[in-house]
Amino acid sequence: MCGIVGYIGNQKAAPILIDGLSKLEYRGYDSAGVAIYDEGSVKVRKYKGRISILEENLKKETIKGNIGIGHTRWATHGEPSDRNSHPHTNYSGNIALIHNGIIENYMKLKEWLISVKGDHFKSETDSEVIAHLIDYFYEGDLLDAVYKAIEKMEGAYAIGVICKDEPDKIVAVRKDSPLIVGLGENENFIASDIPALLKYTKDIYLIENEEVVLLTKDEVKIFNEFREVVKRDVFKVTWNAEAAEKEGYPHFMMKEINEQPKGVYDTLHRRLDKKDNIVLDGIKITKEDLEQINKVYIVACGTAYHAGLVGKYAIEKFAKIPVEVDVASEFRYRDPFVDENTLFIAVSQSGETLDTLAALREAKRKGARILSIVNVVGSSVARESDDVFYTWAGPEIAVASTKAYTTQLVSMYLIALHMAVTKGSIANDQYKKYIKALKEMPDQIQKIVENEESIQKIADEQFNNENVFYIGRGVDVAVAYEGSLKLKEISYIHSEAIGAGELKHGTIALIEEGRLVVALATQDGLYDKMLSNIQEVRARGAYVIGVAKEENKEIEKVADKVIYIPDTLDEFTPILSVVPLQVLAYYIAVARGCDVDKPKNLAKSVTVE
Ligand code: G6P
Repeated sequence: MCGIVGYIGNQKAAPILIDGLSKLEYRGYDSAGVAIYDEGSVKVRKYKGRISILEENLKKETIKGNIGIGHTRWATHGEPSDRNSHPHTNYSGNIALIHNGIIENYMKLKEWLISVKGDHFKSETDSEVIAHLIDYFYEGDLLDAVYKAIEKMEGAYAIGVICKDEPDKIVAVRKDSPLIVGLGENENFIASDIPALLKYTKDIYLIENEEVVLLTKDEVKIFNEFREVVKRDVFKVTWNAEAAEKEGYPHFMMKEINEQPKGVYDTLHRRLDKKDNIVLDGIKITKEDLEQINKVYIVACGTAYHAGLVGKYAIEKFAKIPVEVDVASEFRYRDPFVDENTLFIAVSQSGETLDTLAALREAKRKGARILSIVNVVGSSVARESDDVFYTWAGPEIAVASTKAYTTQLVSMYLIALHMAVTKGSIANDQYKKYIKALKEMPDQIQKIVENEESIQKIADEQFNNENVFYIGRGVDVAVAYEGSLKLKEISYIHSEAIGAGELKHGTIALIEEGRLVVALATQDGLYDKMLSNIQEVRARGAYVIGVAKEENKEIEKVADKVIYIPDTLDEFTPILSVVPLQVLAYYIAVARGCDVDKPKNLAKSVTVE
């Protein structure tokens, strides 16, 4: 993970780097640092902890230089410490480097550098090796030295390099970790992600894998692996800087929960024509293609994986094709049965999650057709797919995913319905009923969000519980997983999700007086069974919060508290029922004094294995 930025121009680099880093803090926040060319030397300042600590320290001195690089770290090799923070330098301090990714052969390189140069290393990181390697090859041409260094490096990296002897350039490289270039007037930028640059420019070059970039303040040159100059179209960002600001909300997570009606509306309505037919411009799967497909794999990580669980339910139900769902880190190493009759669906908010990307490549290698559901336009997953379905969630900043999830659900439903229509496996009146229900979703989510105070009250009563169980049946189980993940990742409460019918095979042994159980009972066909399961845990002392449709009031007799969601078809309840669970997790985390947007040990974009 980690976030990188770089600036070259006429303005003071330090504030621009700090500002850019603050927009990338979601990528990691163990430490932060900058290297700026100033008054004839490369000045490196780096500190363990949040960017604010770096910022405070920079205020104590004047660094006027107008070329620099900055980094915010999610530690992989070496504990979070000043020493292990980036930028790293070569021994003399002439060359400074920032790195996002992992250098897999760093031990070998380190031993080799020690044997040939007797180098001394200051940190335990893999990244420091790159600075020494560039130094080893440096003969007055930074670009050439970087090219020679990357030939030796194995792994994933987005790097930015500056050098005291060539103070008019930044050299950057992308291999399997994200990198973009921002284009300004008499100034240029590099960054891991667009929000870091939005304040300064909306003109972006999306850098491709294995490309090397040479930036001066007046020019940006992109080279391929053979050192040939490549042309790139300018990508114009359509959203504005405010989209990546809190706009009065105490946390990004709450802002993003509130943005769900809009995200769902946009994701849906951009795919419906005037007659409510689904039009998927980015997906070119024909009836003939679908007839060939005998299996679908949905592969993702974290919250996106949970969206995949709902996707399985939707595709099997609507399009009648068997679906397997897998977490990407497992899929890629288990030699899955994939061939040219497989449709592989990757789901990813960032489009940069390394395991998801690697799984996609594995499936592609085996001949599968690749469809992706991605939020970040132009990201790696999107670019390497045959078909792309973009969610219209807008930038998601909080580490805990909310609006990306609900828009991923809508995408799954639309893809499943599109497949069903293309295959002819759905009757027209049924299709119309489904679309009508989907169109009601934005207003229905809004209604739930407006009811947040009552959920906050429950959170204020229950925030001290150290073990929480989420149960459900049918598609509710998928939502239970997501609700449980939301709670544990931001409040640090141990939590577990399980199919309610499976409880009695072990987990019910953990139910005792006062245990909090969140029971999803939104499925009409499974409602009575859920009421029985609720009674089973109540009989053992559990405190139960039920989640049910407004029309089903029976649950009040067996649960301690009930959160209602507006009435809808059983198929689509996940889009609604997850919202109170997000709000509940949020307020429990707030009540416990947790850093909601930046939970400990986590990062939003996971670009390491
Ligand atoms: C991290 C984030 C999660 C996210 C997961 C997958 O763990 O904290 O919110 O669901 O990565 O990320 P992706 O960008 O591929 O959806």
